[in-house]
Amino acid sequence: MSFLSSTRDIPEVRAVPRHVAMIMDGNGRWAKKRFLPRVAGHKRGVETVRTMVKACVERGIEYLTLFAFSSENWRRPADEVSFLMRLFVAALQAEVEKLHQNGVRLRVIGDLSRFDARTLELVRTGEALTAGNTRLTLTIAANYGGRWDILQAANALARQHPEKAGHWTEQDLAEHLSMAYAPEPDLFIRTGGEQRVSNFLLWQLAYAELYFTDCLWPEFDGAALDQAIVSYQSRERRFGRTSEQLTPSPRAGTDGNV
Ligand code: IPE
Ligand code: IPE
Ligand code: MG
Repeated sequence: MSFLSSTRDIPEVRAVPRHVAMIMDGNGRWAKKRFLPRVAGHKRGVETVRTMVKACVERGIEYLTLFAFSSENWRRPADEVSFLMRLFVAALQAEVEKLHQNGVRLRVIGDLSRFDARTLELVRTGEALTAGNTRLTLTIAANYGGRWDILQAANALARQHPEKAGHWTEQDLAEHLSMAYAPEPDLFIRTGGEQRVSNFLLWQLAYAELYFTDCLWPEFDGAALDQAIVSYQSRERRFGRTSEQLTPSPRAGTDGNV
């Protein structure tokens, strides 16, 4: 199943965002503040992931997408990269069964070709085990880049529909993106104080509401999520229309003098 694009169709706006996408940033600074090695921040960050999954389920959020490792994060020191890879494997081993018991569907997006066979196997078995769950879809973006995603979608289209080259539509491309199974994010949250997208879901964030907080990821919690949701609820999502079109005057269409 694929969802319509927000630049072509106006999505239904709900009080609680249906899809929240988060850049989990600030682990290193959290550790540094405590005179700990950076990796201690990543370890602590996994606890926030657990907290967020629970918090999203409790709030009726249907899709939670977390940026765990970007295509640019390979530029970090080798020991930090290998720690993050081991942490990913350990988290999959420790959490998949619990996610399943809690009705969470797990998906992993990104260029998985750089992961070793054991990690790939864990990802595939975790996805298969939880495929039928409907309470929350948790997507982990690992070795993910928004540009990579658009490019792989274009390449897939070129392979599958060469005869349509030159006539591909926005919808054709969207159906080949790695999150074609989810509606576009309603709310984007970045912790850690930076106000940038860092090559996250470039295509899908076209009409997301953006929320930035100085809170470091290991300190982000349910109350902080609620603040983001309150901010989201105060936004007027116009999708290109005017304010007046969203709240038509009660007299519109009934008064010939208007
Ligand atoms: C985010 O925290 C985690 C990853 C990118 C894997 P950082 O490691 O970027 O933390 P800061 O930004 O250095 O504080
Ligand atoms: C973005 O955080 C990527 C993830 C959280 C996985 P970074 O800390 O890598 O982003 P930049 O480098 O500051 O933009
Ligand atoms: Mg960072």
